[in-house]
Amino acid sequence: MRYGYFDNQNREYIVDRVDTPVSWTNYIGVNDMCAVLNQTAGGYSFYQSPQYHRITRFRPNAPMESPGHCVYLRDDDTGKYWSISWQPVGMDLNRAKYTCRHGLSYSKFLCDYQKIRAAQTILIPLNEPVEIWDVVLENDSERPRRLSVFSYLEFSFHQIDMDNQNFQMSLYAAGSDYEDGVIEYDLHYEEQGYQWFASSFEPDGFDCLRDRFLGSYRDERNPQAVERGECFGSCGTTGNHCAVLQKKLTLSPGEKTRVAFFLGEGKRAAAAPYRKKYANPENIDRAFADLAKFWDDKLTRFQVQTPNPGMDTSLNIWNLYQAEVNIMFSRFASFIEVGGRTGLGFRDTSQDAMAVPHSNPQKCRQRLMQLLRGLTSEGYGLHLFQPEWFDPERKGERQSFQSPTMIPTPDRSEIVHGIKDACSDDALWLVGSIVEYIKETGEISLLNETVSYADGGDGTVYEHMKRILDFSGREIGPDGICKGLRADWNDCLNLGGGESAMVSFLHFWALDGFIQLSRFVGKTQEAETYAVMAKAVKDACNDHLWDGKWYIRGITESGRKIGTCSDREGKVHLESNAWAVFSGVADGERGMLAMDSVDRYLYTPYGLMLNAPSYTKPDDEIGFVTRVYPGVKENGSIFSHPNPWAWCAEARLGRGDRAMKFYNALLPYDQNEKIEIRQSEPYSYCQFVMGKDHPAFGRARHPFMTGSAGWAYYAATHYLLGVRPDFDRLTIDPCIPKDWAEFDVVRAWRGAVYEIHVENPDHVCKGVKRLELDGSAVADGIPAQQAGSRHKVLAVLG
Ligand code: GLC
Repeated sequence: MRYGYFDNQNREYIVDRVDTPVSWTNYIGVNDMCAVLNQTAGGYSFYQSPQYHRITRFRPNAPMESPGHCVYLRDDDTGKYWSISWQPVGMDLNRAKYTCRHGLSYSKFLCDYQKIRAAQTILIPLNEPVEIWDVVLENDSERPRRLSVFSYLEFSFHQIDMDNQNFQMSLYAAGSDYEDGVIEYDLHYEEQGYQWFASSFEPDGFDCLRDRFLGSYRDERNPQAVERGECFGSCGTTGNHCAVLQKKLTLSPGEKTRVAFFLGEGKRAAAAPYRKKYANPENIDRAFADLAKFWDDKLTRFQVQTPNPGMDTSLNIWNLYQAEVNIMFSRFASFIEVGGRTGLGFRDTSQDAMAVPHSNPQKCRQRLMQLLRGLTSEGYGLHLFQPEWFDPERKGERQSFQSPTMIPTPDRSEIVHGIKDACSDDALWLVGSIVEYIKETGEISLLNETVSYADGGDGTVYEHMKRILDFSGREIGPDGICKGLRADWNDCLNLGGGESAMVSFLHFWALDGFIQLSRFVGKTQEAETYAVMAKAVKDACNDHLWDGKWYIRGITESGRKIGTCSDREGKVHLESNAWAVFSGVADGERGMLAMDSVDRYLYTPYGLMLNAPSYTKPDDEIGFVTRVYPGVKENGSIFSHPNPWAWCAEARLGRGDRAMKFYNALLPYDQNEKIEIRQSEPYSYCQFVMGKDHPAFGRARHPFMTGSAGWAYYAATHYLLGVRPDFDRLTIDPCIPKDWAEFDVVRAWRGAVYEIHVENPDHVCKGVKRLELDGSAVADGIPAQQAGSRHKVLAVLG
């Protein structure tokens, strides 16, 4: 069963059944002002921070994503009313046609009811703190129609805590008023706590007091003002506030009209220029076109045409979009992460950064620098931190958020608690993402920049990298394997002083990247030193972690091995096996066996499970994972994030059919026709899909905000299609299914564009037998060409 389809031409997903089983999310805004909305315009907006500077209210974890940013229409002859985005009025779907088009940083809600065709497009222009609701109405009937249009949103008390607890102060601290067509909302004790709401027309009515507009014992489904067709003209201090502007209009048969509403940051005076500018619909069209160009510039840096349409749609549009949303919103805004946790997660952000250096080098660099400042001089990262604490430009200042209720920068002693807070994997990812950033941009001077440590002192970026590698070299258990500490990548595997196989493999991978980088920049002495460390890591892994048919997951503090053939639960684990192979620790034979075990024990048609069978008995030596429901989250679900590691591993082994089988299983696109099982949107990877040990096997949860997006993009582009930048060349090394005869990639790299055609006449999975640049044979990858130039590359497999 499907609820919509992909419109690749317009880069939209069209939800043509809006009663999706769960909310289908989109992200509006690419800068300071942002909104998270679903397919019925439910959701919320914020300025910079959903925790400290929310604009509209959200009732988290309620049955519907509400309230939203909605427009009511009322037929003033019959008194019938409805909303353009279906909810909140929620008409019978057999009598009214609703559609939602989720596009890149905008959503369009369409409705056809009572012979009135209506559309509401919500967008936030690139660099302006104003949310626009562009509303088009058309009379599709034979008679003139008298209509009322009402906007509606509910203002927040600006902080998630104030919206959700103890209202004895906040209820009496917010105020609104209306003047010259503009609503101004304020929190009395915040100097800059203002928003405004206006429209492209002179309103015929307004309401700013929520409870007056809705009426007692009613809600957004049946507001009293809409029902009676007249606003109350309410505003004032104290209480809860909303933004309602009413326009009465008459449309003759066939007539079309366009009106707009604007929600902006700042006092009433800030509204004037935007109101003037966007009262002209051409300027809205321009803002829309600018947004499209913003995304086009990113997406065209890697475009692909393969025999796999799902892969094309994903890589060309949605997967990169999701990865970019992640680097921007870093787990702090969704319907699940409802805004109470701002700041950067060290491990998640480090990994997110790996996927976007080609499409968003500035953001990637900014994140790398923020993370480097969040590193302690001991070499571990602060697991979750506010980058503002360490921002040199804000030293000594309070938080960056404009709200004066900003949290002050704590003392270093309150931030850095020592190793008991450290996760064993966090900082290792950063080494990998710095290496990737340099491969993409060639900016080796980054290594010499001086950056502070979270606990004081400073060092170059290169020194930071060494400290990370040294930390993992030092924090090892009795077998020479990295300690698990508070957690490794798996938050629920809490091995403490026990050992984590995955982290040792990860350490080896980070060392490998660092050694190559050191050689490239001429630091041969360091390269040699760390090659010795890498060898010791590899030997320890192969001596202690091999179980005969696969690699174990770790060793508990008391010396028990986890993930062995004699275990009845948690027998085979995905992370350790995929990393053993991808990192290069496993040799060919062990690698094949390990990944065969992954296929045998962990494969499902919806992707690879994290471990199997799931744990059923609490075992605190292993960790919280043993207390999670079987088949859910970290305990035996199809946790999406590590799935691409297995694609990379298979690509390393040269098994393109297997790699693509794994890729397709997880691909949301391929589940478009199975929404009764998947439930969540088919255009975003979800954090997890319920595993075999759960009755809802195949149900996906927790969309958008997940490391799967970055990794899926990285693995598919770099390792399946095999187009990956190196320090001084572009490597072309695909690993594809045998039955692919050819594919094409257009890839921008260091300012030049490469049109890459890959042919597979012998139907192999891997191995380039001929490589040509503009018709001439090249030996080992494509050397960087002049910026601004365009080239043809031919790779023939065989
Ligand atoms: C969540 C966390 C991530 C962690 C993963 C596995 O996605 O954001 O940091 O690695 O769970 O536990």
